[in-house]
Amino acid sequence: MEITGFRRILVTGGAGFIGSNFVRYLFEQGAHEVVVLDKLTYAGNIANLADLADQPGFRFVQGDIADPSAVAAAMDGCDAIINFAAETHVDRSLLESAAFIRTNVHGTHVLLETALHTGVSRFVQVSTDEVYGEVLAGRSRESDPLRPRNPYAASKASGDLLALAYHASYGLPVMVTRGANTYGPYQHPEKFIPLSVTNLLEGRSIPVYGDGRQQRDWLHVRDHCRAIAFVLARGEPGQVYNIGAGNHRPNLEVARAIVRLLGLTEEWIQHVTDRPGHDRRYAVDSSRIESLGWAPEIPFEAGLAETVRWYEAHRDWWVPLKAGQFADYYHRNYGSRVVLSGGSET
Ligand code: NAD
Ligand code: DAU
Repeated sequence: MEITGFRRILVTGGAGFIGSNFVRYLFEQGAHEVVVLDKLTYAGNIANLADLADQPGFRFVQGDIADPSAVAAAMDGCDAIINFAAETHVDRSLLESAAFIRTNVHGTHVLLETALHTGVSRFVQVSTDEVYGEVLAGRSRESDPLRPRNPYAASKASGDLLALAYHASYGLPVMVTRGANTYGPYQHPEKFIPLSVTNLLEGRSIPVYGDGRQQRDWLHVRDHCRAIAFVLARGEPGQVYNIGAGNHRPNLEVARAIVRLLGLTEEWIQHVTDRPGHDRRYAVDSSRIESLGWAPEIPFEAGLAETVRWYEAHRDWWVPLKAGQFADYYHRNYGSRVVLSGGSET
């Protein structure tokens, strides 16, 4: 998807997992100027953008999307904005949710207000399939009711609704994307796939919540970035676009695949106490974005194998992320979980 029609694109949260992959993708597709605005929370990492340091047209600004003056300065001269900035981890939202409301709701509002006064031609609000809540059968369509069941998902649903209200009320050219579980290089090791891979590489087990039969639809980050670029270039203002990959797998199956890819046995999988309110399944109908010409390209088995190799080859990137404050978080989230079955920690 060629991206040459914009003068300057603002990418908020561009130092995170999907955002940094997206900035790289934008330049590959011919983007002229890209400004990244990122607060650099625990999840933001300037190292994710290190290869772009000398890229002509690239500028990084450290700042908070909930800070109107930082947003106004970063948005100056931009004709498009893609909002990736968010608190994103469900387990953290269950431990402490205030930052989720501040960034995902209030921060989104600041971006919308500023965009209204700046006059951008496209505003893409990057959201999630979690806003529909658990879908035990069938697939969610964009018109389905939102039934978020954890504080993270509720804060994202609030951001979606605010964004769509700015289109209905003021004609702001907003589009909302609702992507499925994304995986690939540069994902923070708190999330299931990178946590599983890096735990095994450290000699620890994979903690599978409950029975491990919960299903997620795994979307490679490059397919997700391509989809967002399609919406940016071809989407219709006021519309919502689901983005799924059709790669539904139970968590236990994903854990088994990772163990095999690292040449280990299932003794390295531990069942632990479930996540409270754990959604059993998400599934979206992606026919609307497919009608724009997008389709996922990366098969899950190939994408997973490539991702495992990436984490094996980039210990320098993730080892520091699993130290310090992350160790405290790990203790809070996993320390109280009872081991239900499986191999033991070493
Ligand atoms: P991430 O946690 O890896 O990155 C989030 C980024 O936002 C970080 O760089 C962080 O520093 C930045 N940030 C957080 N608060 C900020 C603030 N107040 N101001 C400025 N920057 C701030 O997240 P991700 O997995 O890359 O997700 C990106 C977006 O995609 C999120 O909006 C998320 O809801 C959505 N999404 C993620 C997935 C997934 O599976 N990862 C799937 C669908 C949708
Ligand atoms: O569906 C899109 C969403 O996917 C995004 O909006 C979120 O930002 C992203 O974090 C992700 O949410 P999940 O809760 O689905 O992802 P997570 O990687 O935390 O968990 C994936 C599945 O694995 C889920 O069923 C919970 C389970 N799990 C997770 C962890 C961290 C485990 O069994 N053990 C774990 O240690």
